[in-house]
Amino acid sequence: MFGDPLFFNKIAGAILVACLLVMVTGFAAHLLYHPSELKEPAFVISTETAAAAPVAAAAPIGPEPVLAMLAAADVATGAKLAKKKCGACHGFAKGGKKKVGPNLWNVVGGPKAKSAGFAYSAALKEIGGNWAFADLNKFLFKPKAFAKGTKMNFRGFKKVTDRASIIRFLHSKSDLPIPLP
Ligand code: HEC
Repeated sequence: MFGDPLFFNKIAGAILVACLLVMVTGFAAHLLYHPSELKEPAFVISTETAAAAPVAAAAPIGPEPVLAMLAAADVATGAKLAKKKCGACHGFAKGGKKKVGPNLWNVVGGPKAKSAGFAYSAALKEIGGNWAFADLNKFLFKPKAFAKGTKMNFRGFKKVTDRASIIRFLHSKSDLPIPLP
């Protein structure tokens, strides 16, 4: 057999044919089965969504609306709350001075971050617009969520009745209060 002058050529030929066969079958299989890549994973294992979902389902996002409660809310109750919860940082009197926070006379319905002489955070200044009842409701629910980076270090009122009475009180601190909703 080694006498065959083409012996090594034959071996090399056989190997070549074998390689070709492997390539062709691979190619054919690919054509037949179309293994296409998924654009997105078939299912996502995310601890984040799994943990967040039940909470999101249980509690509505954002604060409960306050508008419908304002007319009936009690100014005196709001005044008491304000003294206890805001008084360390805010004055409410006309022409009153700033403390840790700006004076809040005439704040309801007026422009945000505009009390003279107070150095507001960029966070509050950037929000812009007026202090509408609905904005105050959100801000007093969770100040740091409404104005991310605000200097106002207050946790907020979770109870909608607390927010209603405090807004009603703030509303009374003006010569010309805007109409109640
Ligand atoms: C620990 C101090 C502190 C407490 C307590 C606090 N505030 Fe403030 N408040 C601030 C500061 C500081 C600012 C300015 C925020 C900024 O510039 O980001 C502010 C801003 C505000 C503004 C916006 C004023 C404007 O001119 O745009 C309102 C409204 C407000 N506070 C209401 C309240 C009410 C109502 C309470 C009580 C429930 C309260 N704050 C409790 C410190 C406080």
